[in-house]
Amino acid sequence: SGISRQEPHRPQVHFSPEQHWVNDPNGMVYFNHTYHLFFQYYPKDIIWGPMHWGHAVSKDLVHWKELPIALYPDSLGYIFSGSAVVDSNNTSGFGKKGQVPLVAIFTHHDPKGEKAGTDVFQNQSIAYSLDEGNTWTKYAGNPVLKNPGIKDFRDPKVMWYAKQKKWVMTLATKDHITFYSAPDLKTWKKESEFGLREGAHGGVWECPDLFPLKLSGKTYWILVVNLNPGGPNGGSATQYFVGDFNGHQFTPMDTQTRWLDYGPDEYAGITWSNTGSRKIFLGWMSNWEYANQVPTQKWRNAMTIPRDLRLKQSKQGIVIASALVPELVNISANTAVSKNVAVNKTLELTDKVNKLKSQYILKLTLAQLKGLTIKLSNKKGEEVLIGYDDVKDQYFIDRTKSGKVDFQKDFPGRFTAPRLSTSKSPDLTIVVDKASVELFADGGLTTMTAVYFPNEDFTGLAINADGKLKLNTLAITGLKSIWK
Ligand code: FRU
Repeated sequence: SGISRQEPHRPQVHFSPEQHWVNDPNGMVYFNHTYHLFFQYYPKDIIWGPMHWGHAVSKDLVHWKELPIALYPDSLGYIFSGSAVVDSNNTSGFGKKGQVPLVAIFTHHDPKGEKAGTDVFQNQSIAYSLDEGNTWTKYAGNPVLKNPGIKDFRDPKVMWYAKQKKWVMTLATKDHITFYSAPDLKTWKKESEFGLREGAHGGVWECPDLFPLKLSGKTYWILVVNLNPGGPNGGSATQYFVGDFNGHQFTPMDTQTRWLDYGPDEYAGITWSNTGSRKIFLGWMSNWEYANQVPTQKWRNAMTIPRDLRLKQSKQGIVIASALVPELVNISANTAVSKNVAVNKTLELTDKVNKLKSQYILKLTLAQLKGLTIKLSNKKGEEVLIGYDDVKDQYFIDRTKSGKVDFQKDFPGRFTAPRLSTSKSPDLTIVVDKASVELFADGGLTTMTAVYFPNEDFTGLAINADGKLKLNTLAITGLKSIWK
């Protein structure tokens, strides 16, 4: 909208609310050709506070329009994370005269109960909309799923399980997942538990998701579990399991821990509902280690770029590969492609990007990765390095010298991720947007997201090699701001 969202560090191709605090994406649902994005929002400050559901809509997953707040805290508590579904068969009975209701399922977090020291201050509630998400009515019978005595009991992700004509709720319950089902979104019964022995347990399990994906004609069920802290590079991160779900129980294929994004700054990521076989993922581009301290003034934090999820084979067996949604073409400008480019120690690309205002996609295909370092920099000597460590077979992002780093002790650092591909022709896609970088390596098998806060935009770009390196292709695509 107009001239807003132009402050220093403000993402230009990622969603952030015009002002104030944001954390998890919530209630993402596709309905009547519109992508809805709700989000954990505190409309009075740039720190976490009593949670509301903010609301934004998009026709293309790229341009967003922020709408009035959808859900406000009430006598049952703050409105914590959750999901939304299209109740096509009106199982809830909320639809009137053939209307199809949108139903939001969320956690009511009661701060009074928390203060009083009870263990039952998080309960699941629902609300519905009969006008495409513009206005919401909370159900008079809330909460619909009462806390059985477990402190962390939240973030319901609901899906329609067609085979058994019922809704399945995947709920984060402290250190494991509990599955519930209901015919009507109101009367939930417990199905099973998963995860006490599986996966990473360095912190609390939060914001889960459950959905099927196909690989070579076979259906696998993916269980996403966000974890805080305990991520591979510290703090918050998204792990997932590949397995089977029969409407009652989830059975993993193996006990490996898989990470959807190894970087420090993708958290609480889940997928849109009602998008058919397409699975579109969105994460919060921050980390609870420092989300409340990052050096912005008017707003705090943003979302990742939406990503299409697919299954692929890798060194770790079947894993998720993340790809930028193709709709980004709607803001893409002037792609410059070069072929067979030799890098002799350094290839200076600043001339090619300095007019792109730190908003572009860099794509490389190369014969080998050994010694590769991509350097984003400014004239103040601040930099972010993205590269590959041949000895450890790891990708890395280093923001040690990225500008403002001292607002929290663990913010400056070098973060690593394993290379999961066995391909001899690697490819890298890197999205740069003012104050963040997202790396999709090897067709998205290894993904890393990191934010940073330089004192001046990174308008410099160079590709460095130990000695000689050959790029098969080098493509740079400028990205237009989504806010103009
Ligand atoms: C994850 C989370 C959720 C919770 C919400 C509160 O970042 O802690 O578990 O519902 O944020 O804002």
